[in-house]
Amino acid sequence: MIKAYQAHCQARVDDALKSLFDSPAPDLARLHDAMRYSVMNGGKRVRPLLVYGACEALGGVAEQADGAASAVELIHAYSLVHDDLPAMDDDDLRRGQPTTHKAFDEATAILAGDGLQALAFAVLADPLRNPQSAETRLEMVRCLAHAAGPAGMVGGQAIDLGSVARRLDQHALERMHRHKTGALIEGSVRLGALASGRATTADLADLNVYAQAVGLAFQVQDDIIDVESDTETLGKRQGADVARDKPTYPALLGLSEAKAYALELRDQAITAVERFGHAAEPLRALARYIVERRH
Ligand code: IPE
Ligand code: IPE
Ligand code: MG
Ligand code: MG
Ligand code: MG
Repeated sequence: MIKAYQAHCQARVDDALKSLFDSPAPDLARLHDAMRYSVMNGGKRVRPLLVYGACEALGGVAEQADGAASAVELIHAYSLVHDDLPAMDDDDLRRGQPTTHKAFDEATAILAGDGLQALAFAVLADPLRNPQSAETRLEMVRCLAHAAGPAGMVGGQAIDLGSVARRLDQHALERMHRHKTGALIEGSVRLGALASGRATTADLADLNVYAQAVGLAFQVQDDIIDVESDTETLGKRQGADVARDKPTYPALLGLSEAKAYALELRDQAITAVERFGHAAEPLRALARYIVERRH
């Protein structure tokens, strides 16, 4: 079920994303090529799936969510381009291909990331790509800025870089994960709910419980597969966290405790969306997928 849903949503968001990369002037071709390369390269599109899933859980339709789905994937792609830079994780493989700074050069990768970030907000603000009321679009821009910025993903990346070779306790590790990965996942669920045009305060609160659990589970599983999977399946270097002495859940708790924690978070997420009934089945399937994935 999740495979078909994933393929359907992937095709939707890929169409929406593709339409953003039109042919530029010749002197901008390299920048645009790097932006396109960083986005149209086979990501799992988990954050767009969460956008669509949350929109549908509240009775909205996918057409309403295409803008938000594109915007979160643009922010995510930018975060990966910068995460892989030599000044950060210094990785050479992403989604089974050379990282953007390897395929192009560092300056182009920095600019491509900057460009993707700006494009995300342009999409959300554009009534043609994100057909919501002006008030809802403003709320969506505010939501994405919070998720991506210093109180969210960028803050988490700063904590991550400041924690290399240090031992964090579970509270500090959780704080880092909630920022660097959880925040954009929470933002994706909230944007999907806002895109439905039907979200009540109570809906947003329940969906946020789901998103917090799934967001943390996602990074716990990312840490687990860095240990357990292989480079070919992952599409990124296996063992990179250990090699860089990153604080991770398996390092802190051991592998089997980390796995048990991921499953506990999955169950919390599934329980949080019980009252939405059948409409929330994609969200439940996504929670299961997130802790079962091998890449
Ligand atoms: C990897 O994210 C980076 C993290 C935030 C853990 P994904 O596992 O969603 O990467 P892609 O988009 O599928 O490549
Ligand atoms: C990345 O975390 C989180 C963001 C890009 C915000 P990681 O550094 O663990 O991601 P991977 O393992 O390189 O995909
Ligand atoms: Mg990193
Ligand atoms: Mg990394
Ligand atoms: Mg990782």
